[in-house]
Amino acid sequence: MGNQGKVMTDISVIGLGAMGSALASTLLDKGFSVTVWNRSLDKAKPLRAAGAQLAESAGSAIASSPATITCITSHEQTIELLQGLTAALAGKTIIELSTGGAAEAEQLAALLTQNGASWLIGIINAYPTAIGKDETVLTVVGEPEVWQNWQRVITTLGGSSRHVGTEAGMVAALFAALFTTRQGFMFGMIYGGLVCKQAGIPLDVFAEQIPVSLGVLPSYYQYFADTVPGGNFDNPPATMATYAAALDDALSTFKATGTAAELPQLFSDLAHQGVDAGLEDKALTALVELLGKK
Ligand SMILES: NC(=O)c1ccc[n+]([C@@H]2O[C@H](COP(=O)([O-])OP(=O)(O)OC[C@H]3O[C@@H](n4cnc5c(N)ncnc54)[C@H](OP(=O)(O)O)[C@@H]3O)[C@@H](O)[C@H]2O)c1
Repeated sequence: MGNQGKVMTDISVIGLGAMGSALASTLLDKGFSVTVWNRSLDKAKPLRAAGAQLAESAGSAIASSPATITCITSHEQTIELLQGLTAALAGKTIIELSTGGAAEAEQLAALLTQNGASWLIGIINAYPTAIGKDETVLTVVGEPEVWQNWQRVITTLGGSSRHVGTEAGMVAALFAALFTTRQGFMFGMIYGGLVCKQAGIPLDVFAEQIPVSLGVLPSYYQYFADTVPGGNFDNPPATMATYAAALDDALSTFKATGTAAELPQLFSDLAHQGVDAGLEDKALTALVELLGKK
């Protein structure tokens, strides 16, 4: 497992798929010395040609640098891989950038801590082509001193990266939150398409009009940002009662056209829970506090 014949490098990268290759090549481009390892050798060849040191095993990659980025399929595969390499971990830092669930993140962090390694776990909120750009964000959890030690590497990969907490599972919750936010829009378009189809509105007409809704999204974001972080739900530009009435109107159109209405029904039910709880004059976003109490 040693690193005989190898020189020490600044950072190692394990996993050279689309994302891991982008991480390794960006670090090389920005002047870091990099050791790489991939389960199948072919994906490592372009990086070796670009100046990376090629490790003969994952354990050797870890031994070759003080910190190793792992970017394979998910935390489960990282755990499986590192469970066979525990002797290599003491004194090292593992920066796990594979996407994964909260329970697996906690399990991975425990494995690393038990074996004397420090860790950061991050999500990459970008495609491989955005790695290395100023606006790219990796959201990372781990002990603050580990973040400080490796912040330069992380912000080389994504210039707007943030340290967001210390608990391993937090990053999965943040991913779930951001993904759900985006999917709210995606499923909104899907149900919008259903009602247009039932009403005989050509779907290209609907698709053409969607950018009008996209233009409204910044004001929705502002409504959220003005209310939820500070817990200030008074005097909103549109109240819970106003939203409930508008959502009821939309729901009745779904029903009148015989369209499947699960999503608008859910929206209406949620707004009415707020009204029934006495929040009719508050911002719709007060639901974050009301529903969170369940
Ligand atoms: N691509 C994106 O846009 C993107 C964006 C954000 C986050 N991510 C995350 O980045 C991670 C990697 O994604 P990717 O797009 O690079 O995937 P990918 O192109 O499919 O590459 C997967 C990599 O994982 C390796 N691998 C899989 N199972 C393994 C195992 N059991 N042991 C060792 N290596 C294993 C593969 O090795 P082989 O070559 O030997 O198969 C390959 O290098 C994922 O967690 C993904 O969610 C990706």
